Order: sequence, then structure tokens, then C-alpha cells
Amino acid sequence: MRGKAIRQSWSSKSKLGLPAFVFACSVFFVAGFYGSSLLPQDVSGLRARARFLESVSDGRDYAPLPRGETGDDSFFSIPFQVLSWEPRALYFPNFATAEQCQSITKMAKAGLKPSTLALRKGETAENTKGIRTSSGMFISASEDKTGTLAIIEETIARVTMLPRENGEAFNVLRYEIGQRYNSHYDAFSPIEYGPQKSQRVASFLLYLSDVEEGGETMFPYENGMNMDGTYDFKKCVGLKVKPRQGDGLLFYSLLPNGTIDPTSLHGSCPVIKGEKWVATKWIRDRVQDD
Ligand SMILES: *[C@@H]1O[C@H](CO)[C@@H](O)[C@H](O)[C@H]1NC(C)=O
Repeated sequence: MRGKAIRQSWSSKSKLGLPAFVFACSVFFVAGFYGSSLLPQDVSGLRARARFLESVSDGRDYAPLPRGETGDDSFFSIPFQVLSWEPRALYFPNFATAEQCQSITKMAKAGLKPSTLALRKGETAENTKGIRTSSGMFISASEDKTGTLAIIEETIARVTMLPRENGEAFNVLRYEIGQRYNSHYDAFSPIEYGPQKSQRVASFLLYLSDVEEGGETMFPYENGMNMDGTYDFKKCVGLKVKPRQGDGLLFYSLLPNGTIDPTSLHGSCPVIKGEKWVATKWIRDRVQDD
């Protein structure tokens, strides 16, 4: 399955001009060539996860080029699916292992608190009650002695090519039955929130659990749908992504010209059955101090 996805991606080589392929170039590195099962020596330790190092057996030569100072010695492959161009959303199956997810969930359980909102003018904790009903906690990779979050963070940096330093700490969230997050933007509109020191460019969600029913991440404005001004921000409509343990979802909040992508509006549908755990990483246009 995984191998197939890789071959398909490589076979799109003829469409080299496509931005998708440029993106693929930045994230696809394949171990060895001619289907060699030998994994290259790993220096950083982070690349040692053999599950991400796939050899390609289509008979073509994938010999790596001499690398730059900060580059990689070998190819590196992570399967992904473009879910949408409006918003720009990518899905990464099996981005993390079940063990990694469990380790993160376990860490977070100790520090869960009711999630809060960034407030606009006139908004208070009281009058925004019900918009975001999950519990959560922030945890940075450096606080995780198991090193799991560092591996995840490094991998997110590779697939986005946005430096690790630009990421906020992980926000690990738990949604229980009935809990939700009404549709919202992750980027901060200066008109609504005032001038910002930095802006959120992209969001990466790592689903830490399966959810039996509900709990989808929804994009109600996908491809311009529901944008006639009558959309009820609670309503679970549009493109829906079902949480599956270990899978990742990346979407961009900003358009290439730096303005907020109106179609990046998203929310979390209420959990109907089971429990939803997710780790969110917001990535900014500037290095984060915290
Ligand atoms: C940015 O790009 C979008 C989509 O192409 C366009 O609608 C918008 O007017 C642009 N904004 C600026 C400030 O260039």
C-alpha cells in the first residue's frame, strides 16, 4: 500500500512543473536505490525510523545528489494525499506510530485544563463559552524526556519545510462526547485581533486516537462551499477528515500572497461516540520564543 503510493508519486515526475511535485521533491527522500533494503547510516537519529525510509523498486535510479551543508544524505519518503487545494490541505497516513501517540496522550493527561480562546474585542470567557469545549495542554518538545515530540516536530518540519523554531509548543487536546470546536481560523486577522507580532502560516494536526463516531476535522468552506454568509459556525459540513490514530493533517492558513485563506476556516465536529485526542502544532511566519 505504502509502496504503491510512493510509486504513484514518483510516476508524476513528468509533471515536474506542478507545485505539488515541487512539494513532493522537498519531502520525498528514498533510501538506497534499485529496491535496496539496506538503510543508509543515520546521523541524526531522527531518520532512524525505518518505517519512513522506503526503497523504490521500479527499476529506476534514485541516487542522491551531493547535499548542501544542512541537507540530507539520502532520500526520505512520507506518503501523503492532497485532500484539497482550497484550502491547501494534505493528509499523512501513519505519520506517527501507535506507541508514539500513546506516549503523547499519557504525558498530556497529567496537565489537561479546559481549552481557552484568543478573544476578539468584546469577547469574554463567559460569552464565548461553548465555542471550544475540549480540554488541553501545551507541551514543548524539550519538555518531553522520551524524545517522541522531538521526532514528530522534526518530521513536521521536513514535510512543511518550515523550520522547527517557527512552531508553537504542541497543544494536546482531548474531546469527550459532545465536545467540539466551532469553525474558526487559526490565523489572526489584524482587523479582529489587532496588530500581531507574528502570524500562523500552517497547522499540523496529529490524531492521537481513533474516534468511533464524530470528531471529524471539518472545512465548511472547502472549494467555496457554504460561503454565502448563512453558515452556522456550529454546523458540521464541508470537507470532513476522520481522525485515525497516528495520521496527520496539514493545512495552510495563509495564501501564497500572505493573506488569510478564507477557505481555511475549520472546526471540530462534536464527538458522538468514543474520545478524540489530537496534538496540534501551529507554525508561524517567525521564530517563536516560547
Ligand atoms: C491574495 O490572493 C488572493 C487569491 O488569489 C486574492 O483574492 C487576494 O486579492 C490577494 N490579496 C492581495 C493583497 O494580493
